[in-house]
Amino acid sequence: MSETKTGQETNPAIRTVASTQSEMTEIILPNDTNTLGNLLGGRLMHFIDLTGAMAAYRHARTYVVTAAMDHIDFIQPVHLGDLVTLKSSVNRAFTTSMEVGVKVWAEDTRTGTVSHVASAYLVFVAVDEHGNKRRVPAVKPETPNELRRYEDALRRREYREAEVLRRKEARKAMAAFKDRS
Ligand SMILES: CC(C)(COP(=O)(O)OP(=O)(O)OC[C@H]1O[C@@H](n2cnc3c(N)ncnc32)[C@H](O)[C@@H]1OP(=O)(O)O)[C@@H](O)C(=O)NCCC(=O)NCCS
Repeated sequence: MSETKTGQETNPAIRTVASTQSEMTEIILPNDTNTLGNLLGGRLMHFIDLTGAMAAYRHARTYVVTAAMDHIDFIQPVHLGDLVTLKSSVNRAFTTSMEVGVKVWAEDTRTGTVSHVASAYLVFVAVDEHGNKRRVPAVKPETPNELRRYEDALRRREYREAEVLRRKEARKAMAAFKDRS
């Protein structure tokens, strides 16, 4: 059995949420903002995607691709010069996919005030170097909050699957309608 530098097994059947926790801090520069001097939503989504992928990589220990970014709340604007900190962890793993939660805070560097500005859920799929899907270890929640997120992740997966099915049916119905007209 091989181990990483931190003594973590590279291919265990189960991993703790804590072992996937990741963090990134960025300073908001003029290139990141709109004409009002607020952080662009798309730029924030990019940071969220990167931080989410870090947790997914730590869980899967192989390549990961973003399958979905399905719930994102922009709670407050982030201003030019703020420090943005993003924290992520894997909420639950399924067969080849993982749901990752990302929470974002902004710090006003002049006052030191820290505000929760956004939260998001993403799904990553583990793949090998040829793009073939790979199984991922299960997740072991260890705290009441981790357990709540673990259970909620299953509900969100069911909702996502129902949505994918609904969209497929809608496309089929639209194609049938076009064929008739
Ligand atoms: C994501 C991707 C690998 C899924 O491949 P696929 O062959 O359609 O996948 P499957 O239907 O076999 O599902 C594989 C897993 O992905 C999950 N998945 C697939 N589409 C999903 C979606 N839209 N939302 C959430 N999960 C999804 C499935 O639930 C399944 O999870 P499980 O193995 O844990 O049960 C494929 O669609 C892909 O490569 N997409 C592009 C990814 C990319 O380039 N991302 C960057 C964005 S620019």
